[in-house]
Amino acid sequence: MQVTKKDNIFLRFVEKESIFKNKKALTSSFMPSKIPHREEEIKSISNILAPALRGYQPSNLFIYGTVGTGKTISIRYVLSQLEEISKGRGIRTVYINCKMKKVSDTEYRLLAQLLKEIGEFVPETGLPTHLLYRRFFEKIDEKKQTIILVLDEIDSLYKKIGDDFLYNLTRVNGEMKNATITLVGITNDLSFRDNLDARIKSSLSDEEIIFKPYDALQLKDILAQRVSEGVIEDTISEEIISMCAAMAAQEHGDARRAIDLLRVAGEVAERLGDSQITYKHVELAEEKIDMDRVTETIKLQPKQSQAVMYSIIKLQEKYGSQKKWADTRMLTGDIYEMYKEVCARNNLKTLTQRRVSDLIGELDMLGVITAKVISKGRYGRTREVVLAINDTILQRVNSMLVERLGN
Ligand SMILES: Nc1ncnc2c1ncn2[C@@H]1O[C@H](COP(=O)(O)OP(=O)(O)OP(=O)(O)O)[C@@H](O)[C@H]1O
Ligand SMILES: [Mg+2]
Repeated sequence: MQVTKKDNIFLRFVEKESIFKNKKALTSSFMPSKIPHREEEIKSISNILAPALRGYQPSNLFIYGTVGTGKTISIRYVLSQLEEISKGRGIRTVYINCKMKKVSDTEYRLLAQLLKEIGEFVPETGLPTHLLYRRFFEKIDEKKQTIILVLDEIDSLYKKIGDDFLYNLTRVNGEMKNATITLVGITNDLSFRDNLDARIKSSLSDEEIIFKPYDALQLKDILAQRVSEGVIEDTISEEIISMCAAMAAQEHGDARRAIDLLRVAGEVAERLGDSQITYKHVELAEEKIDMDRVTETIKLQPKQSQAVMYSIIKLQEKYGSQKKWADTRMLTGDIYEMYKEVCARNNLKTLTQRRVSDLIGELDMLGVITAKVISKGRYGRTREVVLAINDTILQRVNSMLVERLGN
């Protein structure tokens, strides 16, 4: 095939002035030059950690706040500042994101990671954990130093390995001669501390800081700053920035959501060959983000759970030919009948109705359906299920499930 340069399918991407001048500034790993609206929180964290600079052990600290409230970015900022000033003052900072699988699956992995951070390598399995603890403590106790150990998303660690590690890591301070450990735990689970064992709570003797959700005006400032670093001037108006801020504020005051919205809107505009980000692009961006989130969530579920979801979609198709999806109410018994057909068609083992009912509960927790308990008088109680995702997303989920399950 003879292709001239004029026909090149990529031409429209190189020809047009693009929307972004530095798209990285609109991604979550980017460290902006300023962190607006977190001055107070950053100051409080630094006050708590500052004794380390005078050779004292700072209190342990817990940082709470819902998703996207700037916890991670603020602690990263504080740590970088502390590292800069503490050269030669015997402070060592260790940051661990506990959500990473290689860290949080087992206590062994956590310890192996901690040892790796201080330059000690151990085999991936095989040693008893008490030995790993000992090695860690002996190593850090070789010199006088304050270890600031940040465990970000600590709740995911707790869910997998319980809370003994917290006890082990804090209790040891009394036994070491030279070094101390200060723990900084970060979580978006506001009840995290309440669930800890009483013995651990008292050994933590900690401080806590709460990060509140951002409001629309704060999000607007955060976005404006990211826009100035990442987007070409005049491709986005103030109203559009306000709109993204307002949309994210309505959800949970989540800065990540606001930034994603703006970046994806820019990408949509670029793809359509437009030179300005408009209202339409933001709407399309919101739909795309929701679609990706829902499809990803369902993709990660086990096959049986996917089969239940698929059965609900099939049943809604059957019932809902004249109705809108939001009006179609399905009873668990009928879902189970459909589920049996789906399993038979796809050679899947059929679970009991009770187990399927549990899976329906889990899908409800994920937010893809809503299941309401209703009373059927003397026939007992059942659940009424309604899909919680719109038609466009539903189609996409449906094709993904067809691909995974067969038919
Ligand atoms: N005050 C702020 N100024 C600039 N950017 C911010 C601010 N707060 C949050 N962000 C940005 O928003 C995104 C989410 O922030 P961050 O990762 O710190 O949230 P988080 O509270 O740790 O959320 P999660 O609980 O989901 O881990 C990041 O891209 C971060 O750079
Ligand atoms: Mg975080």
